[in-house]
Amino acid sequence: MEIRIKTEKPYSVYIENGILSKAGEIIAQFRGKGTKVMIMSETNVYRYYGNKLSECLKKAGFNVSSYVFIAGEESKNMKTVMEMYEALTENGFTRSDLVVNLGGGVTGDMGGFAAATYLRGIDFIQVPTTLLSQVDASVGGKTGIDLPSGKNLVGAFRQPLCVICDPETLKTLPEEYFIDGLGEVVKYGCIYDKELLFELETGKALKNMEETICRCVDCKRIYVEEDTNDTGKRMILNFGHTFGHALEKLHGFKDLSHGRAVAIGMLMAIEIGESMNITKKGTSARIEALLKELGLPTKDESFTFEQIIDATALDKKTFGRNINLIFISEVGTSLIHKIERNYLVLRCKIMEQQKLRAGL
Ligand SMILES: NC(=O)c1ccc[n+]([C@@H]2O[C@H](COP(=O)([O-])OP(=O)(O)OC[C@H]3O[C@@H](n4cnc5c(N)ncnc54)[C@H](O)[C@@H]3O)[C@@H](O)[C@H]2O)c1
Ligand SMILES: [Zn+2]
Repeated sequence: MEIRIKTEKPYSVYIENGILSKAGEIIAQFRGKGTKVMIMSETNVYRYYGNKLSECLKKAGFNVSSYVFIAGEESKNMKTVMEMYEALTENGFTRSDLVVNLGGGVTGDMGGFAAATYLRGIDFIQVPTTLLSQVDASVGGKTGIDLPSGKNLVGAFRQPLCVICDPETLKTLPEEYFIDGLGEVVKYGCIYDKELLFELETGKALKNMEETICRCVDCKRIYVEEDTNDTGKRMILNFGHTFGHALEKLHGFKDLSHGRAVAIGMLMAIEIGESMNITKKGTSARIEALLKELGLPTKDESFTFEQIIDATALDKKTFGRNINLIFISEVGTSLIHKIERNYLVLRCKIMEQQKLRAGL
C-alpha cells in the first residue's frame, strides 16, 4: 500500500509486510548524483535489521556506511547528533547523498534532525520499526532532540523523501512497546476512524497490522496535509495528549510511557466531555473496556484529576487561563473546545465526588 502525503513537499509512505527487503529498489529511485547512503540506527534495531538493509542497499548500487548509537531516549541529544555529523563528514557526505533512519521514534527524530541540519539539510528516508513510529513519528516531518531541561525542545520541520514501513519488524518489538503504540492507534479510532475502533474491539485490527497501520497513517495524513506546521487542525492529533503530557511530566518521564499516558489522558477527556454533554454518554465505558482489553491503563493511581490539570499549566502549548482541549462528540468525530482551567478543575472535582458516591 502506498499512501501519498501531500504536504508542500509530497512524499509516499509504503506499508507492506516484508517490504524491508525491497528498500534498496525503493530508495534507488531517489538517487541523485551521489551514491552514498548512511544508515542511522541504534544497537537493538541494527542487530536485527542492519545487515539486511545494508545488503539490499548495496545490491541497489549504493555505497553504504552506518552509524549506530546506544538504544534509548537517553541518547536523543546533541552529543549523539554531533557524532552523526562527524560520521557524515568523515565519509564525505554531500547534499546529493542520503540518510536512512532505521529504528523507532528516537532514531527517526534524531536522524531526521541530523539530516535536516547537516549542510543546511540533506535528504533522508524513514524506516520505522516500532508501532509508535510506524503510525505516528515517521509521518509529519517533525524531527528533533531533547535538552536536559525538557523533551523535544530543539528540532526542525523537514519531510522525508519517503517512509518505508514493514509491519513484520514488529515481530521482534518487545510487547511493552507494542502496547504503548496501541495508545496512538486507539487515538486514531477515537478522533476519526470508528471502523478502526470497532476492529480493535473485535480483535481484527491486531490480526492484520498491515491494514491497521495503513488506516492510522491515512488518518495522520488528513491532519498533516491540512496543517504542515502544527498550528490549527493538526491539534486534533493531540487528543489525550494535553493530560497525557502532564502525566508524563508528573512522573518525571520515567515510570509512565507516552502511549500509556495518552490512554489515561484520552479517557479523562472523554469523561470530562460526557459530564459537559459534549461527548455521547456511554463512550467512556466503551473506551475504558477497550483500553483494558489491550493492556493499557485507564487511570493514574498517583495523581488526582486536579493535579493533572494543574500540571497542564507547565506545558508551552497549554499554559494560561484557558486550555484548548480536544474532545470527541462520539467515537470517530472530534472537535476543539476552549475551556477555562478553573472551570475544568471544578468539573473534575464534581466528577470525582460522583464516582466516589457511586463506589467506582
Ligand atoms: N516526530 C514525531 O512526530 C513524534 C511523534 C511521536 C513520538 N516521537 C518521539 O518518538 C520517541 C519514542 O519512539 P519509540 O517508542 O519508537 O521509541 P524507541 O525508538 O526508543 O524504541 C523503543 C524501544 O524499542 C526498541 N526497538 C525498536 N524497534 C524494534 C524492533 N523492531 N525490534 C526490537 N526492538 C525494537 C528500541 O531499541 C527501544 O528500546 C520519543 O523520543 C518521542 O519524542 C516523535
Ligand atoms: Zn503521541
